[in-house]
Amino acid sequence: MQNWNTELALTYHEETKHSYDSVYRSRHFLDWANQPRPFKLYPALEAIPLPAELPATHVPALLALSHPVETTALTSQPALHDLAYILFYAAGVTKRRVYPGYGEMLFRAAACTGALYHIDLYLAVGDLPGLDAGLYHFGPQDFALRRLRQGDYRRVIVEASGHDPSLQEAPVIIIGSDTFWRNSWKYRARAYRHSFWDAGTMLANLLAAANARALPVHLTLGFADAPVNALLDLDTNREVALFLVGLGAGASLPTASPPVEPLQVDVAPLSAEEMDYPAIRLMHDASSLDSPEDAAEWRGAAPEASLPAATGDLFTLCSDAEESLPQAALEDVIRRRGSTRQFSPQPLSLTQLSNVLVRATQLIPADFLAAPGMRINDLYCIVNAVSGLPSGSYVFHPQAKILELLQAGDFRLQAGELALGQELAADASVAVFVLCDLLPVVERFGNRGYRAAQLEAGILGGRMYLAAYAQGFGATGLTFFDDDVTAFFSPHAAEKSVMFLIALGYAARRP
Ligand SMILES: Cc1cc2nc3c(=O)[nH]c(=O)nc-3n(C[C@H](O)[C@H](O)[C@H](O)COP(=O)(O)O)c2cc1C
Repeated sequence: MQNWNTELALTYHEETKHSYDSVYRSRHFLDWANQPRPFKLYPALEAIPLPAELPATHVPALLALSHPVETTALTSQPALHDLAYILFYAAGVTKRRVYPGYGEMLFRAAACTGALYHIDLYLAVGDLPGLDAGLYHFGPQDFALRRLRQGDYRRVIVEASGHDPSLQEAPVIIIGSDTFWRNSWKYRARAYRHSFWDAGTMLANLLAAANARALPVHLTLGFADAPVNALLDLDTNREVALFLVGLGAGASLPTASPPVEPLQVDVAPLSAEEMDYPAIRLMHDASSLDSPEDAAEWRGAAPEASLPAATGDLFTLCSDAEESLPQAALEDVIRRRGSTRQFSPQPLSLTQLSNVLVRATQLIPADFLAAPGMRINDLYCIVNAVSGLPSGSYVFHPQAKILELLQAGDFRLQAGELALGQELAADASVAVFVLCDLLPVVERFGNRGYRAAQLEAGILGGRMYLAAYAQGFGATGLTFFDDDVTAFFSPHAAEKSVMFLIALGYAARRP
């Protein structure tokens, strides 16, 4: 089993770093004529339309970000309109825009690198009101399900996870997959990082949407890969299952599942040609788990996050109490969300930044974060314009809810340079960098820990997007020069790797 040969994850990470040389000397160009379509299409399968009328929950987005710690309901069966709500606000088409000379672009609920939308969702369900037991693919383009298999296949997934208790009685299991070429067309081998960033932003929405519908929800990253990929009938050189989500409670598993035969079903080609980036396949194989027993052993507590005791000036955050949080409803926030293309100089308040940091770092219900308060990544900030906070670089202490000043100063120029020379990070009020000490993570979880670290960072990033829009300002994910970011936050962040970057601030008004 390669999972414990952890050099492989560290090598993949090293080899896909952006440096000045790798970016500016690259000869890679975008072959627009060969751009892959951003949807998986099954032309021969009948569309089963999802209800277009979505419920309004009016649950404040900032509250929906935190997972209800205990659910008292023993049974909790999602109805079809719950599934429609969750699928739409996780992965639905929320905006359409026509660009002259290009055509129509369909933007989705969650941010995605390059708007390439390479993550697909499938559902394995037992009999539900309005939906027969089966395995379904979700098509965002026509907001419909397509049935790939008839019958209750949940047991196949539960067994692959080594009987993860959070999947055991879930009436619905959502499976997220990634089709590499849909993102590697632009980002080449670095696209495997994007698998988890873009799955993460989608999961931030999905978990919040389930919370808003008061449905138990839990993320599973530890599963034997092969049986899940076989269930979806994936060509694993091109598409792989990344995550499982148990939704609902109290639906016992059937004693056996129907046999998993290969599907005889056509999938439309994505583009005229596809390029293979072997580093992606190698990294995915290296982080695969061979058996249900491996999966059962894998899940559990992440290594203790160990920020050194603070030595710099401390600024206590002043987030709003739950009852006085801004009230914007999750569904409105997700419909309004879009990446900010230009920031204004208007500062954020310390309360606004506090709400972003505190709400985004609420418990993520995941099999690799067994205890509350557990987290793999740390948050570092460059503060450019926040009233009540000196400009400078900071590290966030989540337990104490304080920002520790690492260095005071105006670092706008550096923020822009670190973000691959993009002015967005220089103009924003704050740039939040998600950093991870990878060594203890891969020691604990093997190469699969690399998937967990990237995915957690993506979820934190997705939650920060929502927390920004819930408070009336904007955000954009950004890419970065890896080692320069680590150097900038060192010595505090020495040894850490950068996992995600998001810029926050008010959008500049368009002329
Ligand atoms: C992880 C991540 C990294 C991103 N990096 C950049 C970037 O470097 N530059 C940029 O202009 N936009 C970046 N974006 C924004 C995407 O381009 C944007 O999400 C996509 O075009 C979809 O548009 P929307 O977010 O407005 O719905 C990033 C988004 C994510 C999630």
